[in-house]
Amino acid sequence: MKNIPLGACQLQHQLQEIFQKALKKVFEISFLPEISRCKAPQQADYQTACAMALAKEMKKNPREVGQMLIEQLEDPLIDRLELAGPGFINIFLKDAHLVSLSDELFHPFQKQSEKVLIDYSSPNVAKELHVGHLRSTIIGDSLARLFHFLGFEVMKINHIGDFGTQFGMLVTYILEKELDVEKSCLPDLMEWYRQSKMEFDENAHFKKRAQEMVVRLQAHEAPIQKIWKQILEISRKGFSEIYHVLGVELIERGESFYQPYLKNIVDLFEKKGLVEVSHGAKCVFLEGYKDQNDHPLPLIIQKSDGGYNYATTDLAALYYRIEHDRANRIIYVTDLGQAQHLNMVFDAAKKCGYYDPNQLLVEHAPFGLVLNQDGTKMKTRSGEVFRLIDLINEAIAKAKEILVARHQGEMDESTLDLMAQTLGVNAIKYADLSTVRTKDYIFNFERMLRFDGNTAAFNLYSYVRIKSILKKCKKRAGAISLTHPSERKLLIVLFQLYEVLDIVRKDLMPHRIAEYLYHLAETFNEFFRDCRVEGVDEESSRVHLLHKAQKAFEICFDLLGLKTLDRM
Ligand code: ARG
Repeated sequence: MKNIPLGACQLQHQLQEIFQKALKKVFEISFLPEISRCKAPQQADYQTACAMALAKEMKKNPREVGQMLIEQLEDPLIDRLELAGPGFINIFLKDAHLVSLSDELFHPFQKQSEKVLIDYSSPNVAKELHVGHLRSTIIGDSLARLFHFLGFEVMKINHIGDFGTQFGMLVTYILEKELDVEKSCLPDLMEWYRQSKMEFDENAHFKKRAQEMVVRLQAHEAPIQKIWKQILEISRKGFSEIYHVLGVELIERGESFYQPYLKNIVDLFEKKGLVEVSHGAKCVFLEGYKDQNDHPLPLIIQKSDGGYNYATTDLAALYYRIEHDRANRIIYVTDLGQAQHLNMVFDAAKKCGYYDPNQLLVEHAPFGLVLNQDGTKMKTRSGEVFRLIDLINEAIAKAKEILVARHQGEMDESTLDLMAQTLGVNAIKYADLSTVRTKDYIFNFERMLRFDGNTAAFNLYSYVRIKSILKKCKKRAGAISLTHPSERKLLIVLFQLYEVLDIVRKDLMPHRIAEYLYHLAETFNEFFRDCRVEGVDEESSRVHLLHKAQKAFEICFDLLGLKTLDRM
């Protein structure tokens, strides 16, 4: 199979190069102009405002500049160019050329030598998983899928919180209350965690014992380690239940993994003269960070009691990821609330000379909150433990109700269960991924499970339709010929998939893939309304087009982590 580099089969990219050449020829100026897709296809296929930008610089009339470009520009890809409004250039592509280029569609990407490391999911041991972890898992996994698809080596790292004061508390509580960890489950741990936290906050003696316990744990005292490992094992079981249903798999490399490196990290910062002691704590002061009172806000890397914290661990992890994993791009997927912490860690690392930001990308891909119907933050309901797995199971149960109503008695129970599992999990993932990552969204079972509108089920339904049309056709795929505007529109949309992926590769916004998928589904449905496939003269051409469309759907589903069905 042919491998093609990023950008090669993008119309947008090709048009940019065509215009670049023309600008050079006509105005002796070299820049890569912006070319954008036209939302209204009757208006044009693509559009550029480059004449306007250039006219401003040359202090000339934009329509005149545009006209000069149009007169000089010729290329087999372009059917015609039109001047519009204050100086936009509308671009119409040549059908024959589109058809010949369509052979290039959806070839796999070349293997890249670069490695992308994504830190996502990362729940905390013995603590409640919150919806934020669900978001991190879904978004992080979608990004991991994208980079894998683009040919990069991907490391999916689960930076679980398995280290620190909370374990001192919890282990002390377990030992003192003589609790049986072996027979416990995650909800027990959560409850004990809550109790131990209360003790810790209210009882100074307990607090002291818990702090001593941390030291003993870090000194690898065998009986203490044993309890810690049991706690970890139980938590893991709880996590993996969710990961299994969601179909995600990460490498666990928790905070404790970096414990042996923490001292060295603090030493390194000290050696570089970056540490200031404030109230007994070792601090790094960075430009641009202020507390509420407008005082400089330090990044504390060693507490006054000598203990290391979340920041020290993150500095060690980043060092390891650069020096040992040799990652070329490092992405952290957490809620917006951690933006300041992570940015401080990145800035401290740069200041310490970990990496050159021109050579290595270290980024935070933050996300917003999940809200209840009434706009409040979705979290533990008062008293009872709110488990993510229950949320997922509820979506599956509701999907089943819908399926039962649709297929009254025509399907057996186990088929329905399997379909419900796919639809339920798809619905949760898609509702999340189709919202702009940085925005909050309202969690609504009813809406996410609908078969119409921008939902997982609507998109999947369109795909199922393609497959059933193709099943009925007797002719094989032949040369594509564009005889109806809806065919042409569908083909142009197919060309746009890789353009979208190229943007997501840069801005890490998976909602663009969902948006594209929905647009593809709608465009296909127009085609379906306007163009018969089976038994018409155009059958083999349309079969070919639908094969391509099917592939585009499959790529999108895969990148969003959605499973497909053959019928719905
Ligand atoms: N465990 C953290 C939490 O639940 C998220 C960790 C994110 N990753 C990181 N390297 N800090 O809030």
